Amino acid sequence: MSGTRPDEQEYHFDVVKWFAVAAVIYLVVGALVGDFIAWELAFPALNFDNQYLSFGRIRPLHTNAVIFAFGGCTLFATGYYIVQRTCQVPLWSTKMAWFTFWGWNAVIVGAVITFPLGLTQGKEYAELIWPLDILIAVVWLAFMGNFVMTIVNRNVSHIYVANWFFLGMMVMITYLHVVNSLAIPVDLTHSYSIYSGVHDAMIQWWWGHNAVGFFLTAGFLGIMYYFVPKQADRPVFSYRLSVLHFWALMFGYVWLGAHHLQYTALPDWAGSLGAAVSLAMIIPSWGGAINGVMTLSGAWNKLRDDYVLRFLIVSLAFYAMSTFEGPVMSIKTVNALSHYTDWTIGHVHSGALGWVAMVSIGAIYHIVTKLWHREMYSVSLVNTHFWIHTIGTIIYICAMWVSGIMQGLMWRATDEYGNLVYTFAESVSAMHPYYVLRSVGGVLVLIGALMMLYNVVQTIRGAKSPVAQAARV
Ligand code: HEM
Ligand code: HEM
Repeated sequence: MSGTRPDEQEYHFDVVKWFAVAAVIYLVVGALVGDFIAWELAFPALNFDNQYLSFGRIRPLHTNAVIFAFGGCTLFATGYYIVQRTCQVPLWSTKMAWFTFWGWNAVIVGAVITFPLGLTQGKEYAELIWPLDILIAVVWLAFMGNFVMTIVNRNVSHIYVANWFFLGMMVMITYLHVVNSLAIPVDLTHSYSIYSGVHDAMIQWWWGHNAVGFFLTAGFLGIMYYFVPKQADRPVFSYRLSVLHFWALMFGYVWLGAHHLQYTALPDWAGSLGAAVSLAMIIPSWGGAINGVMTLSGAWNKLRDDYVLRFLIVSLAFYAMSTFEGPVMSIKTVNALSHYTDWTIGHVHSGALGWVAMVSIGAIYHIVTKLWHREMYSVSLVNTHFWIHTIGTIIYICAMWVSGIMQGLMWRATDEYGNLVYTFAESVSAMHPYYVLRSVGGVLVLIGALMMLYNVVQTIRGAKSPVAQAARV
């Protein structure tokens, strides 16, 4: 905790750069696969009768590509960046950091090979086969060890709040992943979970919800607490509120898993407890979102021309929206309508495309300009990306809300004799236009991601945009 602040060159930023570029590539891949399965749902013939392209095998490829490849690489890049900047000390071990880079990418390659072959444990967001689960645990522990030791060696007295969120994510994900993945292997690619029946379901959704709460939320809040003040060039609105936000999130989230299992064999009280704590979570979630947005007080004018900041601030609007919607959906009477429908998919993507993707995109643009010491190759492409991503996301989630609520209402509609008014097939055909609309929204998001990749590559190459050159002449 002593010593002098290192020179810029002494920080270990190479690994940050590689993770950041990998994240952009995986965003393109994840969006491509996501859009492919979206079109498949609208036009099932697109599976070309090929088992490797079937929806069931490709869907986990999408979820793993976006959550663990894109989201994971973003978390590694920003985690390594933030901890060095805020502790004013280089990473404790560069070798361990590179190990995490190659290890994490090996897991991703493993996913790309095993899912189309149909090799899966069948647990959502925990599909990977047992040897890959072990590799994840080892890589994750290396990430955490390196992060903790860098904090121990810090050159400043306090630990900035963004690091707390990262640490919380690391500790919780370690034990959630390990406990949920406990299994008895039968051969190299197959295993049996050590849990059975209702216990298996409970443990799975305890993990499943917390993959959302800690992987897709706590880490990304760490990103928000560092990059929003940096990009806005203002201190965080309330440090005290951020600490409250942190502890409320850590203690609250772990109780929510049962809201995924309303009206199942799970005891009724467990679902009610999940719903009650879910509702309480509106308070810290909104406190955090308000804290981020209010960081701009006195500097709102920056939003007019700083599109990176727009990505960050709009992501907070989506964070607030999805953390209001989620608690509402956990109420049993609402869940009776929303469960199994596309409403859930709409909720997922308002969190995923609106919150997670937008805060990540903003942070990566920021990192690229800082680490390569130059402006983005094309600022107007960043602006276009902002609009195209926002519009694509809104089209996606609105289509799913309408389709989902319609589905739920059609399934429960009965006539005066108590007979179902609609057949299941009628509800499927009614969803078709919305599936097409969702896929169009996905195309926009994909085009935006491709623009970002091009812009980042050109910036790294040091290319000069024709517009900037013309302005100079
Ligand atoms: C081009 C953008 C995207 C498109 C077109 C897309 C499309 C889809 C589709 C069609 C599904 C399957 C829905 C179903 O089973 O009915 C899905 C599921 C999912 N997607 Fe995406 N997605 C996109 C981006 C993302 C991103 C960026 C994330 C996360 C950061 C994400 C996270 C998820 C998750 C978690 C699920 C599973 C939802 C559930 O089981 O309830 N998606 N996506
Ligand atoms: C306080 C915050 C939140 C609460 C209480 C909450 C609650 C819920 C509820 C009740 C469901 C539907 C469960 C079901 O019927 O099966 C759900 C699904 C989901 N939520 Fe949230 N949500 C919150 C925030 C978020 C955020 C910010 C994200 C994304 C980053 C997100 C991602 C998901 C995903 C991926 C699913 C689908 C899980 C699956 O079935 O595969 N949630 N959430």
